[in-house]
Amino acid sequence: MTATITLSTGQQMPAVGLGTWKSAPGQVKQAVLAALDCDYRHIDCAAAYSNEREVGEALSERLGEGKPLRREDIFVTSKLWNTKHHPDDVEEACKKSLSDLRLSYLDLYLMHWPMAFERGDELMPRRPDGTVRYDNTHYRDTWAAMEKLVDQGLVKAIGLSNFNARQIDDILSIAKHKPVVNQVECHPYLVQTQLVSHCWGRGLAVTAYSPLGSPDRPWVTPGEAHLLDDPRVVGLAKCYNKTPAQVIIRWHIQRGVICIPKSVTPSRIKQNIEVFDFKLTEEDMRVIETFNRNERLIIPTIMVRMNSYCMLLFLNVCCG
Ligand code: A2P
Repeated sequence: MTATITLSTGQQMPAVGLGTWKSAPGQVKQAVLAALDCDYRHIDCAAAYSNEREVGEALSERLGEGKPLRREDIFVTSKLWNTKHHPDDVEEACKKSLSDLRLSYLDLYLMHWPMAFERGDELMPRRPDGTVRYDNTHYRDTWAAMEKLVDQGLVKAIGLSNFNARQIDDILSIAKHKPVVNQVECHPYLVQTQLVSHCWGRGLAVTAYSPLGSPDRPWVTPGEAHLLDDPRVVGLAKCYNKTPAQVIIRWHIQRGVICIPKSVTPSRIKQNIEVFDFKLTEEDMRVIETFNRNERLIIPTIMVRMNSYCMLLFLNVCCG
């Protein structure tokens, strides 16, 4: 049984979930099946990953009458993409995710980013010079449209992703349904101490994406040293007789941050949830925090400025 974090709605959100960003179609179904079969009860999805249909195939094989799991046994998150921020587009976008995931409701629906892209079905609408075509829709108006999804019963709760402290407070100042989660990049090289306390102080739980430092991000520099290979992390892992990934995941959940490690490898998927049988000392928790170098790996402008080859790779790898 995995630990859960209680959200402001009273919902229990499992502290470790399976991340599906960068999980290619053709691999993600097996990954979700492997996760559900080794007691994951939380799957993190997004329309922009362009793999929700396959995630839905896996969910439908395990959920429902005569199957091992009931819908209420699992916590499923999806996210509203930037091209769907216009209030007239929000309900349809949510229904598309529900239909792809073969679910009647989501446990949590996040606004993926605060900024809106030009409306339409092009995932990254860009000009010939590569710059993104933005849209003027303000995230406050998008939020009001997302609140209706709660009222309609399509989603149990709504939240934010990639929002900074000021933007969170802006949403809180107008919210009828308060955001329950802010999902942000977070790992030992970007510990986000201030943002995490800001969220907690206002009743939002925090979910860490790229919790292992995303060694498979498409724009990684060849030969770059990864968090999982950091000799200090490897050293700690040896001390606890655990793997580097397990030590990092344990660090996240022990500080109260939900995390969603991505893997398509069954043995790693299993390993990543086997983090409830050991505890890091307070001293080691502090030591890991000192690895911080405010290093942001996921910057939207990187995606925007990528040359065509990288962009193609990005869309293939991340968005199917
Ligand atoms: P793979 O999917 O090939 O198993 P993040 O969640 O920070 O984005 O990191 C995902 C990356 O970390 C993927 O490349 C994934 O590889 C890899 N990964 C996930 N779990 C482990 C693990 N336990 N040991 C080593 N690498 C892992």
